[in-house]
Amino acid sequence: MERPFFCVSYRALLLLSLHVFMISFMHEGYAYGVERKIASHTISVSSLLPSPSCSPSTTKANHKSTLEVIHKHGPCSPLVQDHNPLNLTEILLRDESRVKWIQSQSSNSRDGLKALAGASLPAMFDITVGEYIVTIGLGTPMKNLTLEFDTGSHLTWTQCEPCLGSCYTQFDPMFNPSQSSSYANISCASTLCSLAGSGCLGSTCLYSVKYGDNTSSVGFLATEKLTISPTEVIDNFQFGCGENNSEGFGRAAGLLGLSDNNISFVEQTAAKYGKYFSYCLPSSPSSTGHLTFGNEGGEPSSVKFTPLSKIQQDSEFYGISIVGISVEGIPLSIPSTIFSSPDAVIDSGTVITQMPPTAYSALRTAFRNAMANYTMTPAIPIHSDLPTLDTCYDFSKESTVTVPSITFSFAEGVDIDLHPSGILYTVNASEVCLAFAATGADTDLAVYGNVQQRTFEMVYDVAGRKLGFGPNACS
Ligand SMILES: *[C@@H]1O[C@H](CO)[C@@H](O)[C@H](O)[C@H]1NC(C)=O
Ligand SMILES: *[C@@H]1O[C@H](CO)[C@@H](O)[C@H](O)[C@H]1NC(C)=O
Ligand SMILES: *[C@@H]1O[C@H](CO)[C@@H](O)[C@H](O)[C@H]1NC(C)=O
Ligand SMILES: *[C@@H]1O[C@H](CO)[C@@H](O)[C@H](O)[C@H]1NC(C)=O
Ligand SMILES: *[C@@H]1O[C@H](CO)[C@@H](O)[C@H](O)[C@H]1NC(C)=O
Ligand SMILES: *[C@@H]1O[C@H](CO)[C@@H](O)[C@H](O)[C@H]1NC(C)=O
Ligand SMILES: *[C@@H]1O[C@H](CO)[C@@H](O)[C@H](O)[C@H]1NC(C)=O
Ligand SMILES: *[C@@H]1O[C@H](CO)[C@@H](O)[C@H](O)[C@H]1NC(C)=O
Repeated sequence: MERPFFCVSYRALLLLSLHVFMISFMHEGYAYGVERKIASHTISVSSLLPSPSCSPSTTKANHKSTLEVIHKHGPCSPLVQDHNPLNLTEILLRDESRVKWIQSQSSNSRDGLKALAGASLPAMFDITVGEYIVTIGLGTPMKNLTLEFDTGSHLTWTQCEPCLGSCYTQFDPMFNPSQSSSYANISCASTLCSLAGSGCLGSTCLYSVKYGDNTSSVGFLATEKLTISPTEVIDNFQFGCGENNSEGFGRAAGLLGLSDNNISFVEQTAAKYGKYFSYCLPSSPSSTGHLTFGNEGGEPSSVKFTPLSKIQQDSEFYGISIVGISVEGIPLSIPSTIFSSPDAVIDSGTVITQMPPTAYSALRTAFRNAMANYTMTPAIPIHSDLPTLDTCYDFSKESTVTVPSITFSFAEGVDIDLHPSGILYTVNASEVCLAFAATGADTDLAVYGNVQQRTFEMVYDVAGRKLGFGPNACS
């Protein structure tokens, strides 16, 4: 049984958007005039449930530099045979190590880094990876490789033959450099090696990456021909040919690193794509999205831009400023200091957005008030040291539900109405949760996760130091 996601909501949104109206109300003693487009979303409960079959997005970005984006665990993924619904406890566990890692790397304390240094090579630190995959071509003749793409890590790597340590089982045949005429090792004497390498074996440069969840890859730093599409080929792309790789990447062949760092794909292709890329993550794991490099043809006028910042001078993460949150168009009363310091990181690999407890608690209160007529269910997980989804509902007896709109306000007047798929996380019809969690303390860095980015064209204009949000870019 296939049905378009949020079929009811689209019609409702269309009707509502024809009736943009002004309301004013009293809030904390001030009268605001608010242009309100969407107060709530009425959606069918069946549209919230995971679909067992793949229905690719019909909204295609047909640039020659576009890759299809697939959820690693969804029915469109070639990597898994068993498309079990995701276990939320596992997601929150992974999120926790990823968010902690981002936070530790973004504070001045480097103790976190030292604590993770276990390998015999000095590791180039990185964080645990994302849950969306793309397929690129590598080598001559070209071999297809399915990689996780990640805005929070820099090095692109794949498992290579011969495997010298351990290698995990991947979907694609393992890349064999000896069968590619365009492969070249990077020499130990090269400046690239001193920048990105972490050791030498004879005259060959070695790299080592270790991620926040203790997964790792070690191997040779090399250059290769990387193919995005038949007309989009990048020669001498620097990547890691991994010959000792830990488990933990599913059956993906490796990683595509898109962070703001010298060796990331973004920097290496700066001359070709102008440090500009965008992606759209679909509303559910059973649909598909896209990842596009460059700004051929310009962005649509519906894209709204907020400044990109650096959390720290040498940070590779993409920083943004959240200035407020509204529920049903009404701004929550959150002290401005909560979001002003530090800023937030936007990340493709963190699933659930984590925000300071004071902000989360204001959001939760307003959301629960608007949802007062629905039956609540226990929090997930009941695991004391994890962030918790504590605002969950039983929709099993409903056919449609009306959910309040949530609007994020970012610096420079950018207001983003989240798609319903960015508000709720569904375990099953009797367990549907508000898809936000609190960080440990108000001083912790917030991380804007991939659930909240769903259906938006997320535009990273790294050279222009701005981040764009374009609505309804994929289903
Ligand atoms: C989810 O995964 C955790 C950790 O692997 C496991 O302990 C738990 O039983 C799983 N929960 C469900 C509902 O499958
Ligand atoms: C690689 O993948 C592309 C796109 O998925 C496909 O069109 C092409 O046939 C594949 N090539 C090889 C050599 O498998
Ligand atoms: C492979 O990496 C693991 C984890 O870093 C390490 O314990 C092991 O010694 C390595 N194996 C080889 C052959 O280098
Ligand atoms: C790359 O370096 C490794 C280790 O020194 C070596 O085994 C391999 O043959 C080299 N590959 C090429 C194409 O030079
Ligand atoms: C990673 O390894 C370190 C040292 O062995 C350990 O303290 C830490 O808990 C591990 N982290 C995870 C997420 O497994
Ligand atoms: C690496 O990036 C930094 C700033 O991001 C820059 O100052 C430095 O010159 C870069 N190094 C190389 C070799 O590109
Ligand atoms: C809950 O239901 C009652 C009775 O149908 C209605 O008057 C009220 O407005 C509803 N509350 C919300 C928050 O929707
Ligand atoms: C829904 O998920 C919750 C939490 O994992 C579980 O306790 C419950 O049994 C599930 N309900 C159904 C109907 O599958």
